[in-house]
Amino acid sequence: MKKRIAVVAGDGIGIEVTREAVKVLQAAAQVGGHELACTEFDWGAERYLRERVSLPPGALEMLRRDFDVILLGALGDPRIPDMSHAKDILFGMRFGLDLYANLRPVKLLHPKLTPLRDRGVEDLDFVIVRENTEGLYVAMGGNFKKGTRDEVALQEDVNTYKGVERIIRFAFDYARAHGRKRLLMSDKSNALGYGHDLWQRVFAELAPQYPDIESRHLYIDNLAFQMVKNPAQFEVIVTCNMFGDIVSDLGASLVGGLGLAPSGNVNPDGLSMFEPVHGSAPKYAGQNVANPLGAILTAGMLLDHLGLSQEAAWVEEAAKASIAEGKTTRDLGGSLKTSEVGDWLANFIAARYPARSVPTNRR
Ligand code: IPM
Ligand code: MG
Repeated sequence: MKKRIAVVAGDGIGIEVTREAVKVLQAAAQVGGHELACTEFDWGAERYLRERVSLPPGALEMLRRDFDVILLGALGDPRIPDMSHAKDILFGMRFGLDLYANLRPVKLLHPKLTPLRDRGVEDLDFVIVRENTEGLYVAMGGNFKKGTRDEVALQEDVNTYKGVERIIRFAFDYARAHGRKRLLMSDKSNALGYGHDLWQRVFAELAPQYPDIESRHLYIDNLAFQMVKNPAQFEVIVTCNMFGDIVSDLGASLVGGLGLAPSGNVNPDGLSMFEPVHGSAPKYAGQNVANPLGAILTAGMLLDHLGLSQEAAWVEEAAKASIAEGKTTRDLGGSLKTSEVGDWLANFIAARYPARSVPTNRR
């Protein structure tokens, strides 16, 4: 069956890296004998500046009705300093589509990419499952006496039983489905005695339902410490929205930087959205120099989500090969342009896999 992909390239380098992600996605699908229909949407800064429209009215309903998955590039433009259009679109999708599980793999694709001494690919291969719809991101709060020396600013941290239960359950199920044996929950319950005490209680409630998964807990500060000291101990990490945001950047730095970090915003019962972790990098926009591998690896996650796991594996193999052979953009030491990296990966997949694709794997 033809899968329908909504493509929102967004702003800045989002436009260039998404083009390459689509190129590689289509190459893998073609080799695998699948048809993917990509439809582009021009939501982003230009449209917002022109028409004052960020996420158009009815957009979420349309996406749910007409698409199987969303690919997002990046949002952000210096001409819109409060990022209002970016927040409307990104948070509009995350909250509006209830994309409660933010999957952020931390996987080393080549030993030369890690800043850690004496660590190899076998030491860095875990997934952060970040809660994506509540916590400190709910925008509840307010100011009192704003702009004066007496100002009070409140920012509420919302943790609901439903929200905590479903993300921890998702993480256990994810571990099980992906052959992972260890799940670590991280919070700050030693200081946050209400909200994160709830995380403790829910984790204790769910762990016995997954006797095949070894469950563990670390406070978030210790997790940050341990991620650098001994990252091999982790397989799946589940944590709240804000902590997940922070440790996923730390994780990205351990495996080569934001230019290589993919992510998925998943609603297991509905439409999901995939986006690289990096931003729109206005400084590099339009120069064909941005590293497209984060977006391409994101496209790989998207393929996996659509059930095309063989094609997803090809994308990752191609990315690994490009890094090993130095066929990368300058940030990773290569000399290729953004579009040349995409071409290289697409050609790699087309040249390497036709003979290998097994008919029984076809859907
Ligand atoms: C991320 C980003 C966003 C977040 C920003 C742009 C609001 O940092 O996806 O990690 O905090 O979720
Ligand atoms: Mg972030």
